[in-house]
Amino acid sequence: METLPASPTPFRVVLAGCGGITRSWLSHAAQRTDLDFVGLVDLLPENAAKVQAQFGLSNARIGTDLAEMIDATNADVVFDCTIPAAHKTVVLTALAHGCHVLGEKPLAESMADAREMLAAAQASGKSYAVIQNRRYLDNIVRFREVIRAGQIGPLTTLNADFYLAPHFGGFRDAMEHVLLLDMAIHSFDQARYIADADPVSVYCHEWNPTGSWYAYGASAQCIFEMTNGLVFNYRGSWCAEGLQTAWACAWRAIGQKGTARWDGEDEIQVAAVVGSEGFLRETAQLDPPVTPALEFTNHAGVINEFIESLKSGRVPQTVCTDNIKSLAMVHAAIESAESGRKVMVGF
Ligand SMILES: NC(=O)c1ccc[n+]([C@@H]2O[C@H](COP(=O)([O-])OP(=O)(O)OC[C@H]3O[C@@H](n4cnc5c(N)ncnc54)[C@H](O)[C@@H]3O)[C@@H](O)[C@H]2O)c1
Repeated sequence: METLPASPTPFRVVLAGCGGITRSWLSHAAQRTDLDFVGLVDLLPENAAKVQAQFGLSNARIGTDLAEMIDATNADVVFDCTIPAAHKTVVLTALAHGCHVLGEKPLAESMADAREMLAAAQASGKSYAVIQNRRYLDNIVRFREVIRAGQIGPLTTLNADFYLAPHFGGFRDAMEHVLLLDMAIHSFDQARYIADADPVSVYCHEWNPTGSWYAYGASAQCIFEMTNGLVFNYRGSWCAEGLQTAWACAWRAIGQKGTARWDGEDEIQVAAVVGSEGFLRETAQLDPPVTPALEFTNHAGVINEFIESLKSGRVPQTVCTDNIKSLAMVHAAIESAESGRKVMVGF
């Protein structure tokens, strides 16, 4: 999967799963002239029909069986927007039928499934990448650049706070480890991206707060040891009404010379030591480096990166072989929460 032959365009695309998240995909993808939506697959055909009408995908057939749809349409790309429990079947089917796949997070519900999917992708010679849309925000790129440019010195500690209170309804209400499995994957992947570091071990405490409208695990706190001795602390809850953080988390990065904060939205602050004496050393505020604006952000950013990578034959940023490291953080955190022990992160 390191380099792929360049593919012809437009790509013939089948979308599997036509629920809530498809709007984030199709508001960009349906506009692209290099994508031809030839099929819409959902267990509930009425969901596919709704999406077809909403995004004017009149060339697309509607069906309930992915394998049949790929064969009937001669598709070469599958977009997987199904629920997490269906990702393994959808991805294995798509690869076995000769398609590249861009799929929703999380890659899989278990590491065993994820490894099977990676092996299938590598054996097929097709590209399989995962949506990690929070890498495609102008300010995460800028915040990361503060660290890469050395403004706060070598990174020692990274903290992320995630406090929101969404009342989704649907599959999440009954899902086990709902925060860790469905949401924290974004924050863990962001931490790897911001710090250019990989996970080593984790201790996690997970609980469901009294009054939670979720069945399991709406809150969690994790301490990760990362490569280069970095400690990444995650505090999260999906059951925290009032004074909510950004979906992209509120971040504090501490380096040997200073600290940077990002509120997950528009504000980045940097302060670094300038004095060498005194009880508290003198610090100065620094302007974060200016980074070029992204051409596309969020889902559009990942989709664009994936499609352009297919055209040029390069490896997409969120390729499954890298994304499994973020997924491994999730599953190690779950194992730690269940066992009450610190767990090594394997991938
Ligand atoms: N990247 C993000 O920011 C983000 C945000 C929300 C959801 N998601 C992810 O998107 C995925 C879908 O979430 P959603 O909120 O759209 O869920 P949803 O329940 O609204 O929609 C899922 C759709 O998939 C269909 N489906 C289920 N199993 C299927 C199968 N085997 N084959 C075909 N269709 C099937 C369902 O009928 C439904 O129409 C999940 O993996 C979720 O974690 C990502």
